[in-house]
Amino acid sequence: MLKIEKIQKSFKQKDGSNLQVLKDINLDIKEGEFISLLGPSGCGKSTLLNIIAGLENPSSGSILVEGNEISGAGSDRGVVFQDAALFPWLNVFDNVAFSLKEKGLKKDEVERIAIDNIKKVHLSKFKDSYPHQLSGGMRQRVAIARALAMNPKILLMDEPFGALDEQTRLMLQYELQKIWMETKKTIIFVTHNIREAVQLSDKIVIFGTQPGNVKETFEVKAARPRQMNKGYLVHLEDKILDILKEEIEKVMKEEMGDEYNFEESSLPWDPTRDMGSNI
Ligand SMILES: Nc1ncnc2c1ncn2[C@@H]1O[C@H](COP(=O)(O)OP(=O)(O)O)[C@@H](O)[C@H]1O
Ligand SMILES: [Mg+2]
Repeated sequence: MLKIEKIQKSFKQKDGSNLQVLKDINLDIKEGEFISLLGPSGCGKSTLLNIIAGLENPSSGSILVEGNEISGAGSDRGVVFQDAALFPWLNVFDNVAFSLKEKGLKKDEVERIAIDNIKKVHLSKFKDSYPHQLSGGMRQRVAIARALAMNPKILLMDEPFGALDEQTRLMLQYELQKIWMETKKTIIFVTHNIREAVQLSDKIVIFGTQPGNVKETFEVKAARPRQMNKGYLVHLEDKILDILKEEIEKVMKEEMGDEYNFEESSLPWDPTRDMGSNI
């Protein structure tokens, strides 16, 4: 369904040198699969997601959707970012309806699809509210409804719950599981939270860093909706944390130089902690 072939990406830096961010990324994603890209901050997850979305060009390699190479953004791929980026001057209904209208759909069709997707994220009661009247979690739900309304084949999500408090995050993870079960969309979900990846995914792609590369891939075979206290899932979290420790250490050393003390810093790690953003 989605083939990522030999993707490499380098960015030109201020001093003229090249920074290689992604190295030889190959992934084969099946239709209806929920896949997470997991890795420490700065390992190139967002860069890869933006390349898949067509918002960024790779230095080399290609992205194929159902056998066709992409060239730029397209309505077959919907994107949800960490910041919902809603139009502040439009209410919930009009935010979700915006792209449908742009597409030239008839008024009653726009209304039906928008209402339908607002219902999917349980915001019918708030369809006339404006973004500033909503909580962060509600705004993310609007962003999800807006992406789903265009009926993309693939939903790309870049740390969509990263800015939310823990309780809201758990709620939205549960809700996303249900949406995925209902719509059977192919979802690529970027996160640096191990527990979130284990909870949501069929497959977890663990990224190494400097340059970003696929270090290991795990399948998560557990019934949904998932409860995190199940032994198997906890075991998997531990295993992933072990693999990532080395990568996190690399990033820390880079940022802290000689001041970094691995023994001391590694003590408080546990899988619920985010990697990179608050250390
Ligand atoms: N437009 C850009 N120009 C230069 N460097 C960039 C650009 N975008 C990202 N980078 C660098 O690429 C690396 C990977 O970034 P990113 O993909 O955002 O990582 P992640 O999402 O895993 O935290 C970082 O070192 C970042 O500074
Ligand atoms: Mg990112």
